[in-house]
Amino acid sequence: MNTIKNILGEIIGGKILDVATGDGSFIDLLTNNLKSYDEVIGIDVDEEAIKSSSAGNTNEKVAYRIMSGDNIDYPDGYFDTVSLSNSLHHLCNIDKTISEMLRVLRPNDTIIINELFSDNQNEKQLTHMYFHQFQADIETMLGITHNKTFSKQEIFNIVERNGIRHYSTAIYENESFNKHVNPNMFAERYRKVLEKITGCSEYDKMKAVYDSLVERLYNVGVEFTSQILIVANKSGCVL
Ligand SMILES: C[S@@+](CC[C@H](N)C(=O)[O-])C[C@H]1O[C@@H](n2cnc3c(N)ncnc32)[C@H](O)[C@@H]1O
Repeated sequence: MNTIKNILGEIIGGKILDVATGDGSFIDLLTNNLKSYDEVIGIDVDEEAIKSSSAGNTNEKVAYRIMSGDNIDYPDGYFDTVSLSNSLHHLCNIDKTISEMLRVLRPNDTIIINELFSDNQNEKQLTHMYFHQFQADIETMLGITHNKTFSKQEIFNIVERNGIRHYSTAIYENESFNKHVNPNMFAERYRKVLEKITGCSEYDKMKAVYDSLVERLYNVGVEFTSQILIVANKSGCVL
């Protein structure tokens, strides 16, 4: 069975672009597990995320830039590795973003897509998925693209319709989250999400959803939704 360590441990990362990097946590996973890498550029449309990721960055091989994944400001074939993590369901233009990632990737190099998925989750993982859906519903109300968590098959359909036909996969759990999660802090994180619609007509309805999720959190517990890592070589893509 593939694990993220044995898939990523084989990859010489070279010059890496991490699209929709957010707080840069996937960059940490890459830099801790790749066989080697030279430099990493994380891009995101969210200015605040880029500011705080830059401020917290202690790795001189890593830099962050404000940029959209569907209009990447680098020449064709500039990167040796491109990645996208837990962001497929955040993109308003998924296919354009994947085609841009493949455009800036060198001909024989590596695309990595990591995404949480909805099928076969245990009860604790469902708690995480329901909170995540709660956030997606609120962000959708606010006009921010945040789709539901995709199933594994939906993720395969997305990559395959973008020409990525031959790929390796690994399914894995976020063991660090599962070990260290603090239910109070978890509930607080989503209370802040609820706060974003204070004064809106949907507030009371969403507050009731939040309260029932918090009850579930304390009764059932929480674990991070399982994720799938998909790794392909551009040479095997039909572009
Ligand atoms: C859940 S975060 C992903 C964080 C990180 N990649 C990880 O694995 O932890 C989703 C990110 O997608 C970003 N995003 C959404 N649309 C984008 C786009 N078109 N281009 C770049 N980033 C985008 C959001 O700003 C947000 O930071």
